[in-house]
Amino acid sequence: MERTKFILDEKDMPTAWYNVQADLPEPLPPLLHPGTKEPTRLPPPLFAEALNEQEFSKERWIEIPEEVRAIYRTWRPTILHRAHRLEKALDTPAKIFYKYEGTSQAGSHKPNTAVAQAYYNKKEGTKRMTTETGAGQWGSALSMGCMFFGLELKVYMVKVSYYQKPYRRVLMETWGAKCVPSPSPDTEIGRRILAEDPDCTGSLGIAISEALEDAFAHDDTKYSIGSVVNHVLLHQTVNGLEAKKLMEQADAYPDIIVGCIGGGSNYAGLFLPFVKDKLDGTKPDLRIINVEPASCPSVTKGLYAWDYGDVAGLAPIIRMYTLGHTFVPPPVHAGGLRYHGMAPIICHLHKLGFVEARAEHQLATFEAGITFARTEGIVSAPETNHAIRVTIDEALKCKESGESKTILLAHSGHGHFDMAAYDEYLSGKLTDYEYPEEKVKEALAHLPEVPSA
Ligand SMILES: Cc1ncc(COP(=O)(O)O)c(C=O)c1O
Repeated sequence: MERTKFILDEKDMPTAWYNVQADLPEPLPPLLHPGTKEPTRLPPPLFAEALNEQEFSKERWIEIPEEVRAIYRTWRPTILHRAHRLEKALDTPAKIFYKYEGTSQAGSHKPNTAVAQAYYNKKEGTKRMTTETGAGQWGSALSMGCMFFGLELKVYMVKVSYYQKPYRRVLMETWGAKCVPSPSPDTEIGRRILAEDPDCTGSLGIAISEALEDAFAHDDTKYSIGSVVNHVLLHQTVNGLEAKKLMEQADAYPDIIVGCIGGGSNYAGLFLPFVKDKLDGTKPDLRIINVEPASCPSVTKGLYAWDYGDVAGLAPIIRMYTLGHTFVPPPVHAGGLRYHGMAPIICHLHKLGFVEARAEHQLATFEAGITFARTEGIVSAPETNHAIRVTIDEALKCKESGESKTILLAHSGHGHFDMAAYDEYLSGKLTDYEYPEEKVKEALAHLPEVPSA
């Protein structure tokens, strides 16, 4: 009998996060201050000091505090599955594994950093936090993190998702947070955007600006971001470190790792401990495929340039693949993949040739999600369906070539709050969105000028 699940004991859960900055062949480009355009830290009034230190640390291993591990243990370690039923349905010689993060209380990988961020903020005396959320996964994860550590939270949720996924708001409120649709009348930037376009469906860039403005305006408040920045990717490596141990248990090592990227945190969390083997030359042939939506293709069609992290230009300027900070992506159901930029760590690794990227259309990703649900049983988040699409395509290539490759899928979460999207797909109403070339061209005209770059 071949095993289907690989499981770690609680006592074998990682005790330190892996910091890839210790092993990069070239250091990451700096963050630039949005005003002076000089290298900067994350704005100190907005971030806990411990998180700011982690952002720039070159230490290879950073200890996970016991208080964080105690909360991790409420759902971690998560399981590595072998997708026997999917393999059979595809009639492929490929071996497909997936590391499933949907068993956290919030339903995705997001609590891995939410709990850590809430902990460091509580420790440093923060009373209240603000954040943005796309699909609502991040907002609910931070609501849970803040609940565990007794912090208040206000979430600015991208308007299109707020109405597509009403129960995500209820989940956040159940954990004690406040959630408003963004753009909102609660901030200066929100009011300005609503005055120009009352029907604006919102974007992560706008929601970030609102959450930043709110945090700047309140002394007892700090801001939290759910993806993109280095310390978030760091916290997510707890998943990749578990996956590495579990792959050993399965007596396997991936030829290909696949994951979806919105800001890059779930996928980097899985692949960074493996990319280490590529950086040190032990596994030069390992392929790492980042999957993004064809409607918001920052890595495959964006520019590698300096750009603001948010619409209002309050956040630091980041060197990344970007579609322009003013770009408002089409309202696809994978709300968590609608960000104009990408994690600097992923962009840097892509630029250096260690990882690759691919863009997929919405309909094809739902088709893959249905295949997964009808074989493995799990109804996946629309974001995750992007990675499932490419996993299936790679497995089908193995069928053609007769190769028995090992594929590891980063399964970032369940889609139980995404029934409206599945309903649209199943009733034939879901559509694809073309790559919005003109809108991207327009947005790229507003990149900041950086004299020293
Ligand atoms: C289930 C799920 N997967 C993936 C993502 C994309 O974010 P990231 O690239 O930071 O993992 C999100 C974001 O909301 C999500 O909810």
